[in-house]
Amino acid sequence: MTRLYGASETSVGLESYMKIKRHDNPGSNNSTAGRQEVAPKPTLDDQVLDRALRPSNFDEYVGQDKIKENLKILIGAAKKRKEPIEHLLLHGPSGLGKTTLAYIIAKELGANLKITSGTALEKAGDVGSILTGLSDGDILFIDEVHRLNKAVEEVIYPAMENFKLDIVIGKGNSAKTLQIDLPRFTLIAATTKISMLSSPFRSRFGANLRLDFYNQGDIERIVNRSAKLLSIDTDKEAVSIISQASRFTPRVANRLLKRVRDYSQMTDEETSISALAAKKALAMLEIDDRGLEKTDREIMHAIADKFAGGPVGLKSIAASISEEEGTIEDVYEPYLLRIGLIARTPKGRVITAQGLKHLGIKNTLL
Ligand SMILES: Nc1ncnc2c1ncn2[C@@H]1O[C@H](COP(=O)(O)OP(=O)(O)O)[C@@H](O)[C@H]1O
Ligand SMILES: [Mg+2]
Repeated sequence: MTRLYGASETSVGLESYMKIKRHDNPGSNNSTAGRQEVAPKPTLDDQVLDRALRPSNFDEYVGQDKIKENLKILIGAAKKRKEPIEHLLLHGPSGLGKTTLAYIIAKELGANLKITSGTALEKAGDVGSILTGLSDGDILFIDEVHRLNKAVEEVIYPAMENFKLDIVIGKGNSAKTLQIDLPRFTLIAATTKISMLSSPFRSRFGANLRLDFYNQGDIERIVNRSAKLLSIDTDKEAVSIISQASRFTPRVANRLLKRVRDYSQMTDEETSISALAAKKALAMLEIDDRGLEKTDREIMHAIADKFAGGPVGLKSIAASISEEEGTIEDVYEPYLLRIGLIARTPKGRVITAQGLKHLGIKNTLL
């Protein structure tokens, strides 16, 4: 693995992590190319762009001021006490900057960062060997922590709380439990689905930080910053158009910027991105002015047309548009809910008056 930002990063089980990712998202690369999806579903291509554009310190990290403030205090206090920081839980929709924060925290602390994922840790032994390989002050980052299974969670609980690891040696009657001391590490966990974490697990974190969608101004700053890093000339209006279509999500903003650049290089003589080129590129990608893509509109149409406006369960929506429930819930829905085009009720999802208006459907349903 490459070293980033001075924090030495060892990727634990990255290979199996990638394998599982691919398995989770069959043909995700193909579907990105074929269906031109831009919602913040992370693909392998993104990892390259993410890495190239990832802010390396708090000053470069745009927005999320409250979280930055909190983290600076936590980090400052820990440094003063010469102690590792408390375990941290970062949650919020995909592409908002959780992984980036983990890198920045490690860099600020001058700590080693080890990265793994809830899907890569399958057995108690997997996490045991990672934990015993850590040193005092190291940071273990577990992405998609809601995917951890029970066996692994049971190892992590005492490790987080007492820095102890129970090891069972031998089998059957002769089995013995041995307790070993672990280094004083910090766990930073990230999840898009905090509701899937048990409350005892949640309560073991010293701080629980929720990342929210960015505002238009922040996204424009991110697009400008990325354009500079990628040596892309843009005009103000083009930046504003790209930002408006970015689902208030940095990963999407970066991805759109790159797509629009590719489009203008292919079609125009010019090297800079004009407002017209941005509009044309978005139209070609079937992304509308609010950043909705085909799948978003399919979800909304399913609720509006097939299920009479709802309420309808996620399962039925997923079946009717042949998309995975998890993808709808993690990738598409958060933004649609956020901008009020659909709503969640105890009985299921409903389309809102605004949602109908966006689809150009006359409001006879509500
Ligand atoms: N606050 C931010 N300022 C600038 N760029 C950001 C910010 N947050 C995220 N990004 C960009 O978006 C990409 C995706 O962020 P990442 O941390 O991987 O999101 P997550 O882990 O929440 O899915 C990063 O590589 C970075 O380029
Ligand atoms: Mg991430």
